[in-house]
Amino acid sequence: MWAVTRRTVRRSRGPTWFGLFGKEEALLDGSTVLVDEAYLTESIRDPNAKIVSGFTSPSIMPPYPNLTDEEIANIIAYIQTLK
Ligand code: HEM
Repeated sequence: MWAVTRRTVRRSRGPTWFGLFGKEEALLDGSTVLVDEAYLTESIRDPNAKIVSGFTSPSIMPPYPNLTDEEIANIIAYIQTLK
């Protein structure tokens, strides 16, 4: 999972995952969203659905539509450990 290491440790390209879970994230369209399981699942499978404020549309993040529910759950569990 190079993407996970890169994104988390170096905060490269995308928003940091530290402190992400449970916060209100500002989106590019001016709205805000609560970062929960549903939002994270959608953002991983379809990054263009909601784009974080400060980033460009369309998202430079590749979609991961083929991750299983279990793989998504594992990523979310990991994000939750990053405070
Ligand atoms: C398995 C790999 C990845 C996972 C699980 C993942 C997960 C996520 C999540 C959950 C968000 C929403 C974050 C937030 O609300 O702050 C996000 C946003 C973002 N990610 Fe990733 N990401 C991955 C790979 C990548 C890669 C490889 C890139 C760069 C090429 C990238 C670039 C971005 C960018 C620019 C955003 C903000 C714009 C947007 O909302 O689409 N991500 N990512």
